[in-house]
Amino acid sequence: MEDYATVMNPGPDHAERTFERIIGNSAALESVLEQVEQVAPTDSTVLIEGETGTGKELIAHAIHNASQRCGRAFIKLNCAAIPLDLLESELFGHEKGAFTGAIAQKIGRFEMADKGTLFLDEVGDIPAALQPKLLRILQEQEFERLGSGRTHKVDVRLVAATNRDLVKMVARGQFRSDLYYRLNVFPILLPALRERREDIPALVTHFVRLFSRRMGKQVDSISPETMAAFQWYSWPGNIRELQNLVERAVIVTRDGVLPNPLHKKQTELTAPGQHHNRTFHSSMTLEDSDRALIVETLEQASWIVGGPRGAAAKLGLKRTTLLAKMRRLGISRPIPQDGADLLGVAREDA
Ligand SMILES: Nc1ncnc2c1ncn2[C@@H]1O[C@H](COP(=O)(O)OP(=O)(O)OP(=O)(O)O)[C@@H](O)[C@H]1O
Ligand SMILES: [Mg+2]
Repeated sequence: MEDYATVMNPGPDHAERTFERIIGNSAALESVLEQVEQVAPTDSTVLIEGETGTGKELIAHAIHNASQRCGRAFIKLNCAAIPLDLLESELFGHEKGAFTGAIAQKIGRFEMADKGTLFLDEVGDIPAALQPKLLRILQEQEFERLGSGRTHKVDVRLVAATNRDLVKMVARGQFRSDLYYRLNVFPILLPALRERREDIPALVTHFVRLFSRRMGKQVDSISPETMAAFQWYSWPGNIRELQNLVERAVIVTRDGVLPNPLHKKQTELTAPGQHHNRTFHSSMTLEDSDRALIVETLEQASWIVGGPRGAAAKLGLKRTTLLAKMRRLGISRPIPQDGADLLGVAREDA
């Protein structure tokens, strides 16, 4: 079961291939992989839901790789990271001169994915104006490029992912119910890492091997205390967070023993008088836990988003993706309560 992505992406770089492997054998993950096996050979639309970093993109790849389309293109589009006015032409393409700035013809992602798979990430962010067009192409498999009256036929298998609560969005009138039902043919819910802690040791070992090989560093052992800390932690950023922490720990490893990268976090989280002592409950909605993780990471990064020390890098996201997520979740830098602070900034700027 571990080899879905390996089979699908037979690249020359062994390390990259290993990186794509799906690690873990908890009942929760096994059930997900069973659903992947069931749905992959069909052409049915799949909707993957789960918190940030739970492996939605990895599972989308696995579905493509285990399908008959695996020799064809796997095309990805993140609907949240693209300005609204560009999204339509990204999806459907445009003819030369279709709008100001359309200096050449452009093929859209649906056409690129013909006979293959299209992965629409953050599908909940498709603006209302585009939802009917998406519904049409899913139902009829036909569309027109912008600025053209010619109808094109495509044969595309759609895999969509979201960390938003689409049911709630439908209830609020933000997402068309007919599109939701069309997408929700075969839903797969990815469990949070804290709901399958038995997978943590295998994941830690996997990432330690991967990063130590890449960096040419020797890591011989992980202490039981370090492994216990990994298993104890709540992992609001899920596997991506674990992967980033292990990478950092491998970088600072000396004498072959992996240091405990959670040591600082543990003291931070348990220190008395700290108010960012957040806990992540399984009863939280996906959006709540994403919001909590993003705010916490921004606070740690002093609200710097980009750059090597910024929150986007810490979360393993592109700057534009994080900005789009912040906009969507209504996260903005709090205005300092202290008037003196504001004056201080104003004076410095002057
Ligand atoms: N079971 C797993 N085994 C090994 N690596 C995994 C597993 N699940 C996820 N990963 C790795 O964790 C990282 C995050 O996964 P992925 O990008 O698929 O998450 P996501 O759910 O799409 O996150 P987001 O919502 O933030 O886009 C990737 O590097 C992926 O390869
Ligand atoms: Mg993703």
